[in-house]
Amino acid sequence: MKDNRTQFATRLGVIATTVGSAVGLGNIWRFPYEAGVHGGGAFLLIDLFFIFIIGVPVVCAEFIIGRHTGSNIRGAFRALAPGKPWGLVSYIGLAASVLILSFYSVVAGWTMHYTVKSAGGFTARMTADALHAQFDTFASSDVLPVVWTLVFLAVNYFILSRGVRKGIERMSNILMPMLFVILLLFTVNSLTMPGAAEGMRFLFMPDFSAITPSVVLGAMGQAFFSLSLGLGCLITYSSYFKRDTPLLRTSLITAGLDTLVAILAGIIIFPAVFTFGQEPAAGPKLVFEVLPSIFANMSGGAVWSTLFFLLLFLASLTSTISMAEITIAYFEEEFGMSRKTATALSIGIAMTLGMLCALSFGALDGIKIFGMTLFDLFDYTSSNILLPVGGMIISVFVGWVLDRSVVKGELTAGGGRITAMGVRCVVFCLRWLAPVCIGLVFLYGLGVV
Ligand code: PHE
Repeated sequence: MKDNRTQFATRLGVIATTVGSAVGLGNIWRFPYEAGVHGGGAFLLIDLFFIFIIGVPVVCAEFIIGRHTGSNIRGAFRALAPGKPWGLVSYIGLAASVLILSFYSVVAGWTMHYTVKSAGGFTARMTADALHAQFDTFASSDVLPVVWTLVFLAVNYFILSRGVRKGIERMSNILMPMLFVILLLFTVNSLTMPGAAEGMRFLFMPDFSAITPSVVLGAMGQAFFSLSLGLGCLITYSSYFKRDTPLLRTSLITAGLDTLVAILAGIIIFPAVFTFGQEPAAGPKLVFEVLPSIFANMSGGAVWSTLFFLLLFLASLTSTISMAEITIAYFEEEFGMSRKTATALSIGIAMTLGMLCALSFGALDGIKIFGMTLFDLFDYTSSNILLPVGGMIISVFVGWVLDRSVVKGELTAGGGRITAMGVRCVVFCLRWLAPVCIGLVFLYGLGVV
């Protein structure tokens, strides 16, 4: 590893930034809506399988590559497999990061809009129907969603151009603990609602007859998306880890907290869905239509609503900076750009594509590719295809190609808290379990088996 490269300053910084990347709209916005569309409990169960059995080992694989090489994704594969085609997976990662950053920023823009509106007290005394209509009018308009997308990306620019320690780490250390506290408060509130029992049943009782190829493919995509996995984001972040950061433990903590937040989000949303007689399968709008109903019925609703959307916006920010860091590190190290230029370029690309995604709920909603709007297409292609394919290649690479001593050395660095058995388990998952499962899900999803 290059001696002069930046590293995260503290252990807390490592956890806060990695969990900060993982926890975001994926947990609080995407998980409830995907679970809602795909039948609740069964989706959750398959998601958990993918997170812990497939996800955790692949997270370790990304950490191993990143910390060992201390490099951006392209440079990492060049160092480990010079002249071999493995490095092509970096382009999958770069493409996925650009696509995700673009559509994600639209939703993050919505959270900013709702923060500002809530501070003005907009949810007070409105009916659920009026709140729906209000969201639809906003999301399908031509100007505001585009403006908020651009503002959100501009905020990213300011943080990212300040660099890794001052920008990324300092912000995550403060925000992530705050988010947990506020989520717990809302969870308690939701559990006292009249629809709580029905909501809990929907989320936790798996209806096995609801499992179809698209549910399994969707749950796999959700697991990868939520763990920020398969696109080299964790390779990039772990290139800033210190030698003594324990990799397996960090990946377990990340997966654990990430899952916890998704489940809390489900416990917050679904009781409200049933209390206010709404439709769990509403899609991307779900959270924005259901949450305001909760706030409208709480005393001090405007304050809670402001706080919630503010934290959701901040949680999005700790995720988008990790997506953008993939291309920034790549542009800086592979093309010798300055930090500022690399940041401007990455954010500029996302702004261009993000505007199109923002308009795909309104002016551009007639443009359908494979039956999907641009927003849905970007989400579906990156989460359900690029991330799992990227993850499969990364796991095969670390399981079969990378020298076993490197794998063992990285996993045991930091005091050897992992046993020889633990190392063998991780390697087994990377060699066999992850590639075979991901491959089968693809064949199943495409209707081949
Ligand atoms: N994991 C993030 C979330 O759940 C999204 C993300 C995906 C972040 C890919 C980085 C890379 O919100």
